[in-house]
Amino acid sequence: MAKKTLVIFGITGDLASRKLLPALWNGFLNGRFKDLSIWGVGRKPWGNAGLHKNAREVCEPKDEKAWQAFEKKLEFFRVDVEDEKEFNGFCEKLDGRSDLLFMLATLPSLYEKISARLGKLENKGYRRLMIEKPFGHDLKSARALHAELAKDFGEEVYPMDHYLGKSAVRNIVVLRFSNPLFEPVWNNQYIQSVQIIQTEQQGVGHRAAFYDETGALKDMVQSHLVQMLARVAMECPKKWVPAEVAKEKAIVLEALRPSDDIVFGQYAGYEKEVGHASNTETFVALKAFIDTPRWKGVPFYLLAGKNLESRFAQIVITFKPMHYNVPALPSTLTITLQPEEKFILKVNLKRAGESELEPFKMEYCESCEIRPRSPQAYEVLFEEALEGKKTFFTWWPEIEAAWEFVEAVQKKAKGKKPLTYKPGSPIPKAAEKIVDWKEYGE
Ligand code: BG6
Repeated sequence: MAKKTLVIFGITGDLASRKLLPALWNGFLNGRFKDLSIWGVGRKPWGNAGLHKNAREVCEPKDEKAWQAFEKKLEFFRVDVEDEKEFNGFCEKLDGRSDLLFMLATLPSLYEKISARLGKLENKGYRRLMIEKPFGHDLKSARALHAELAKDFGEEVYPMDHYLGKSAVRNIVVLRFSNPLFEPVWNNQYIQSVQIIQTEQQGVGHRAAFYDETGALKDMVQSHLVQMLARVAMECPKKWVPAEVAKEKAIVLEALRPSDDIVFGQYAGYEKEVGHASNTETFVALKAFIDTPRWKGVPFYLLAGKNLESRFAQIVITFKPMHYNVPALPSTLTITLQPEEKFILKVNLKRAGESELEPFKMEYCESCEIRPRSPQAYEVLFEEALEGKKTFFTWWPEIEAAWEFVEAVQKKAKGKKPLTYKPGSPIPKAAEKIVDWKEYGE
């Protein structure tokens, strides 16, 4: 029998199909999760055959022998966690097993209920709980959620932000703190602006009901965007241990303030998808500042949107121009997460025989050149949690600071109606007025 068990609640849902199963399969091909059983829990009457069929469809295996070995790890359990008798029956199967890692990919409203029952298990070894965002729907509910989960799991709660598992995001601090080229100029004296954007081609699809309660600000800015910002802007921790890193990230997020420049948008046809009139934003662009000596006066532009022309995620650091009377373009450092994981440094040079300066790119592409099977974000996070590490997880003080920021944005944007944009369109024009997007897409 495998020593460890990963139990995924919500295995028949969207997240499991889009991200969790492909990440586990990719990890398996990368030599991970060998001693792991994977139990999928859901309400639909799938059975093992149904789970295996779905997993095959979403993982698209090319290596049949490896797939057979992976499939053997996957077991399905039909459980309605709201039915006490049924849930207790399932939990009895877990009593007596050894190390257990739980992943909650269900409706967030079920988190406390599931956690309370799992907290009473009598398994051997460890018991850890990974939860998918959103962590509450505002500051107050996030605090309450933390308090409830801590009753059952203490410090063994792992709030996930899968962007922190992406290789390019993990590398931000490596780039900053291991290259003397960057740290000396990483401040308001040399940096003109920082922009962090994430655009998607897909609309809300069958997550319409959930999304309509959430919107782009809470769905993307509260989590992924401010988490990237924190890694770009944090001070060097006293020690490179997760708790110290988390402390520095929280300090930056606590100092983050929105300006009045905020644009909300909604793609045409959204209301039809959700089935009623709605002011929920599917696009947000805003300008914020960080009140610390290092960043005073530097605008941080954050943008996220669905149903736009491309799938793109990128951080652009634009440096201030030099004062040597040379008509140079600003140098930029671009960290691209999607569609490829890339680092691009753009500098001014002259071509031989030419008199004009031109921007040239120095580029490193992790995902396209080095390893075609780069570890996926959730793969990294599962591996970390199985080992009891929290390096790439979010910590509660950061979550709280992010909610405070979101609430400050909501206060400033109160009463603003989202503008309408055409599905598949470029970034809405209104956002261009507040944000300098000229590096977008390069
Ligand atoms: C999720 C959001 O956290 O991230 C989704 O809830 C979004 O709305 C997704 O589509 C984007 O993730 P990625 O890795 O595909 O950019």
